[in-house]
Amino acid sequence: MRDQVDKRDTSAPPVHGIVEDADGVTDVVLAAMNGASNPRLREVMASFVRHLHAFAREAQLTEAEYDLAVDFLNRIGQATHESHNEGILFADAVGFSTLVCLLNNGRNGATETASALLGPFWRDNSPPTANGGSIVRSSTPGPALFVTCRVTGPDGAPLAGVEVDVWQASPAGMYENQDPEQAGMNLRGRFVTDEEGRFWFRSVKPAGYPVPTDGPVGDLLRAQSRHPYRPAHLHVLGHKPGYKTLITQVFVDDDAYLESDVVFGVTRHLIGDYRRRDDGSRPAPDVEAPWYTLDYTFVMEPGEAKRPVPPIK
Ligand SMILES: [Fe+2]
Repeated sequence: MRDQVDKRDTSAPPVHGIVEDADGVTDVVLAAMNGASNPRLREVMASFVRHLHAFAREAQLTEAEYDLAVDFLNRIGQATHESHNEGILFADAVGFSTLVCLLNNGRNGATETASALLGPFWRDNSPPTANGGSIVRSSTPGPALFVTCRVTGPDGAPLAGVEVDVWQASPAGMYENQDPEQAGMNLRGRFVTDEEGRFWFRSVKPAGYPVPTDGPVGDLLRAQSRHPYRPAHLHVLGHKPGYKTLITQVFVDDDAYLESDVVFGVTRHLIGDYRRRDDGSRPAPDVEAPWYTLDYTFVMEPGEAKRPVPPIK
């Protein structure tokens, strides 16, 4: 008998208890997860379980709704592939991406930040492009746009040698990877800031676009009577060792969807001055009026330079 007890004591898993009733489930689960050796994992998962259980209690979730939620999650995974990331789209569409972005930048909302969500369309292999070059890589009808940007540190001093990725939708509202009419890598480029922290290039004025609605996120939007549109924007990712990687978007200020962005990416600081020019001047012989300029200054904060995981290849 004594042998049996000893054997059980040395080989049995840690005990977390038996669930007595609905009220007691949460503590039992928290006890089960308490042995994680990674303290941050322990903290995050305990918070997640507490809030997930509180959500089910508050909503009085039915079994049919539980089934629907599990099916929804599974469909998010099934809709994700090399050129589309439904998981990010879902996080974006419920404001989760923007919340996490703002919690981690601009001192948790204490100061304005130049950061915004990455979105699902960044590719980590944009073509290196010289300053002054064009990211229009195949015929792309629409108003010309001349972008001139500066990157500075928090003290306003220029940051040279920042590797800057830019990517945008066409004037028809399509990224190149969604659109057989565009050459590969059209409207994408990688620049390096000069000694004065500047990078500049030619493009076309981006248009807003609907997020993909053929997956579960589209079902959710329709059920909530929400339109799927994003206001037009230019994506920017700035990378320099010693500085926190800057991920942001600069929005077109005359866009009708500025105040109803389906993924909640617009903050006041990120509304750009896309200035319309039809005064007869021509920045290049092939430019027709109206054309546009965008001047914008990005501020990068000292910190760890980490490249995000590309949402698509
Ligand atoms: Fe975008």
